[in-house]
Amino acid sequence: MTTLPSPATQSAPPPPGSMPTFAVISGAQVQQALAGRERQIVDLVETTYRLHGAGDSVNPPSYFLRFPDRPTDRIIALPASIGGSVRVDGLKWISSFPGNVSAGLPRASAVLILNDPDTGYPLACLESSIISATRTAASAALAADWLTRTRTRPTRVGFFGAGLIARYIHSFLVGTGWAFDSIGVHDLSADSTAGFCGYLRQSPSPGQVTVHDTAEDLIRSSDLVVFATVAGTPHVTDPAWFRHHPVVLHISLRDLAPQVLLASANYVDDVEHCLKADTSPHLAEQATGNRDFLDGTLNDVMTGRSTPPADRPVIFSPFGLGVLDLAVGKYVYDEAARAGHLHLIDDFFHELRRYG
Ligand SMILES: NC(=O)c1ccc[n+]([C@@H]2O[C@H](COP(=O)([O-])OP(=O)(O)OC[C@H]3O[C@@H](n4cnc5c(N)ncnc54)[C@H](O)[C@@H]3O)[C@@H](O)[C@H]2O)c1
Repeated sequence: MTTLPSPATQSAPPPPGSMPTFAVISGAQVQQALAGRERQIVDLVETTYRLHGAGDSVNPPSYFLRFPDRPTDRIIALPASIGGSVRVDGLKWISSFPGNVSAGLPRASAVLILNDPDTGYPLACLESSIISATRTAASAALAADWLTRTRTRPTRVGFFGAGLIARYIHSFLVGTGWAFDSIGVHDLSADSTAGFCGYLRQSPSPGQVTVHDTAEDLIRSSDLVVFATVAGTPHVTDPAWFRHHPVVLHISLRDLAPQVLLASANYVDDVEHCLKADTSPHLAEQATGNRDFLDGTLNDVMTGRSTPPADRPVIFSPFGLGVLDLAVGKYVYDEAARAGHLHLIDDFFHELRRYG
C-alpha cells in the first residue's frame, strides 16, 4: 500500500525563518556601506581574484546587447557565481550610453541581482553603478600595487581620460596609501578636464596637478598611467612614448595599438574574457596569430607564477569580471543587513505553496 502525504504537508509554506526575502538597496545605501572602506574592498577583490584563479567561480562570457541604430550604446549582462567565503550567485546588468554625459548624466547605469546559492531565489536588487566603479577602481589599485612591487613605487601618475572611473581610481589609490608628487591629466573634453582637476584640488594632498594638451606629454611624464577613456579603437600607437617603462592601467581596454602591447609585458584579469570584443589584447592576438605577448594574469603575479619586469613597460588590461561585482555587492548586502537597513519588499515572492 502507498501512503500519500497529506495535502496539508504538500502545500505547507516554508517554515518561519526560511521564507525567501527580497531587498532593494539604493545607491545611497551602497555608498554608505562602501565609504572609507577602500582597503577592505581591495582585500576583497584580491580574495575574489584568488578564488577565481583557483577555479572556485563560474564566470561565463559577458553578453553584449548592441543596437544597430545606436552604435555607441550597449547594455552588458554579466552572470556569475563565486564560492569561498563570499558564496553568492547573480547577474550584473550594466548600460553604457556615452551620450548621457553631455546631457548631465553619468555614462553608465546598472543593477546587480544577488541570488541565494542554496535556493536560487533572488535576495536583492542593488543600484550598481557605484559597485561597478568601486570594483573597477579596487582592481586597478590592487594591480598598481602588485605590478610595482619589483620597481620603485611611482610618484608621478597620469590620468588619460578624466571621467567618473578616473575619479574612483584616484580615490582608491589614495585610500590605499598612494601619494603622488605630480598628477597629470589629459582629456579631449575641456569640461571633463576642469571637473576632474576641481575634484583633485579638493582631495587631501593632491600634489602638483598638470593638464597635458597632448597624449604624448602625459605618457612621457607619468610612471603610472591610467587609461579611462571611452575610445572604441586604438589612438595611442607609438611604443617610443613608453620608453621610460611605466606601469599602465589600461582600464578602458581599447586605447593602445597592438605594437604598444607587443613592446610591453602584458597582464590581464582573465585571458579568455579579455581576448574578446576588440580589446587591444584581442587586436594584438589577431595581429600576431598567438597569445605569446601575454605574460599572465594578475592572479599569476599574486601567486608568484609571474614576475613583472622593471625594465619594460607593464600593461594591465582588466576585462572586468562579474565575480568582482558579486563580491562587492554581497559585501554591501551583508553590511546593510548587519546595520538593520535592508528594505525588504513585502510579499515580493507570492506563490510559495506548490498547490496553492
Ligand atoms: N575594465 C573594466 O573593468 C571597466 C569597468 C568600468 C568602466 N570601464 C571603462 O572605463 C572607461 C571610462 O568610463 P567612465 O565612466 O569614466 O566614462 P566617462 O564618460 O565618465 O569618461 C570618459 C572620459 O574619456 C574622455 N575621452 C574619450 N576619448 C578620449 C581620448 N581619445 N583621449 C582622451 N580622453 C578621451 C571623455 O572626454 C571623457 O571625459 C569606459 O571605457 C568604460 O568602459 C572599464
